[in-house]
Amino acid sequence: MIIAIDGPAGSGKSTTAKLVGSKMNFLYIDTGAMYRAMTVKAELAGVPFDDRAGVCSLLDDTVIEQTIDTKSGDTRTYLDGRDVSYEIRTPEISKGVTSVCEIDEVRVKLVSLQREMGKKGNVILDGRDIGTVVFPDADLKFFMVADINIRAERRLAELKEKGIALTFEDVRNDIERRDLRDSSRSNSPLRPAQDAVLIDTGGLTVEEQAEIIIGYIKKKL
Ligand code: DC
Repeated sequence: MIIAIDGPAGSGKSTTAKLVGSKMNFLYIDTGAMYRAMTVKAELAGVPFDDRAGVCSLLDDTVIEQTIDTKSGDTRTYLDGRDVSYEIRTPEISKGVTSVCEIDEVRVKLVSLQREMGKKGNVILDGRDIGTVVFPDADLKFFMVADINIRAERRLAELKEKGIALTFEDVRNDIERRDLRDSSRSNSPLRPAQDAVLIDTGGLTVEEQAEIIIGYIKKKL
């Protein structure tokens, strides 16, 4: 079974997908982390994030992998065999990923990788284009939304836990900027699939969000 969760930054996709994955024994795939890892690759190579030819020249020589940490349930993201799970969350990478993820060739490579990973059995993926482009035939599709202030608060708390200190305004501005670019780009923009179930996570706990999705999965099984 393939479960697609899309939505803007901080809407609760990854925490919910992770919880559903661990409760239902589905493999959780964080597709945003893959675009972020490609951004780290460009940074390490000294290639400007908006240098399309430069970023493309790195693609053939890039290996991005993901595993689940069995203790915490967190995903670990590897770039060319090295764990970059911390680096991918830094403000520099959050800013740069917007340009890197707009490069068509980057999307072709990562979408094909995501489809390969989807063959591994029961999977739950979160991103921006999972239900519309990566798996248009997914068994279940969800689109999560929440008020911008709630999303910024959540992202701030997540970053704090990871040891990254930013202000509420910094986080809110970054989210607003990325949402606008993600929804207005021509290739695979952020938008709900026609058959997606809309979930407003504003007044819900992560447990409640997970239970809603698990309810749909159980009905399908
Ligand atoms: O989910 P995230 O915030 O870690 O994603 C980082 C960026 O990657 C996001 O701003 C847009 C891009 N992205 C994308 O274009 N397609 C996806 N499936 C996932 C993320």
